[in-house]
Amino acid sequence: MYKMTNIDIYYFSGTGNTKLIVDKMKDCFNANNFKTNLYKIEKSNPEKINLKNTIGLAFPVAFQSTYKFIWDFIYKMPATRKKTIIFMVDTLHLFSGGIVGPLKQIFKNKGYNTIGAKEIIMPNNLYPQKINVKKNKIKIAKGLKKAEKYTYELINNKSKWINIPLLPYMLHKVSSSSFLLKKSNELGKRYKIDKNRCTKCGICINLCPVQNIIMNDYPIYLDKCQLCQRCMIYCPENAISFKFLWKFKKYKAIELDELLK
Ligand SMILES: Cc1cc2nc3c(=O)[nH]c(=O)nc-3n(C[C@H](O)[C@H](O)[C@H](O)COP(=O)(O)O)c2cc1C
Ligand code: SF4
Ligand code: SF4
Repeated sequence: MYKMTNIDIYYFSGTGNTKLIVDKMKDCFNANNFKTNLYKIEKSNPEKINLKNTIGLAFPVAFQSTYKFIWDFIYKMPATRKKTIIFMVDTLHLFSGGIVGPLKQIFKNKGYNTIGAKEIIMPNNLYPQKINVKKNKIKIAKGLKKAEKYTYELINNKSKWINIPLLPYMLHKVSSSSFLLKKSNELGKRYKIDKNRCTKCGICINLCPVQNIIMNDYPIYLDKCQLCQRCMIYCPENAISFKFLWKFKKYKAIELDELLK
């Protein structure tokens, strides 16, 4: 049995799927008198999290793992002697590579009480060839229902954070390797700015979670990209494109002002 205190959810969302999920969870927690705050991972200092509160962690799956800057945040979270309660939720298109297993081990080693993990299928944001608005709506509605159910499981001591067998653990090791990070960094150089459209508003620079874009007359990309998609999706002038193998559509679950809230 555990007793949840005030809840601090640290989250990242590239294109809005994860934001929709944490907003739903926050509403459900608040409706049940659990004061809940949302904090953006990219703007938070992991060393300063309040270990007296219940901690939530939410992020998208990427390369059957998650983005390196999210791993960096997790590794920098402090160890605790207070048996700090922690839960996680990730959003994904298809298959996560069993990331919940290694994460449970990491938090157990740091002394946390790992009360629940959930993976929620949402629409694909990785260079989709087409976007079926109707199907996506249904997927999102299902995802939000799952998030609501999960929140009640957490509140009622009914959630689980499963251990995973060896194979997904090995997959995780491969997918979070520096090889894939290097590939993302290289691929990130395929983003191009259309100077005829760009108004130099700086939104892409502010949105990048890893400070990979700088203003130099026009925005330019450095070599730290982790392919979260944000800059391209939320450029208000549609001035950012990406050279890829196939023509793809741009997916976003929410508008920019909601992402920034
Ligand atoms: C670079 C990248 C890699 C991805 N890799 C996976 C993956 O390995 N497995 C999967 O099921 N979905 C994958 N996805 C899809 C996202 O996890 C999914 O659409 C997620 O809900 C996006 O959340 P967000 O809108 O909060 O960023 C990937 C997306 C991106 C951009
Ligand atoms: S968000 Fe778009 S318009 Fe604004 S600076 Fe970046 S590329 Fe230019
Ligand atoms: S450059 Fe764009 S896609 Fe790459 S990490 Fe930054 S915001 Fe995400």
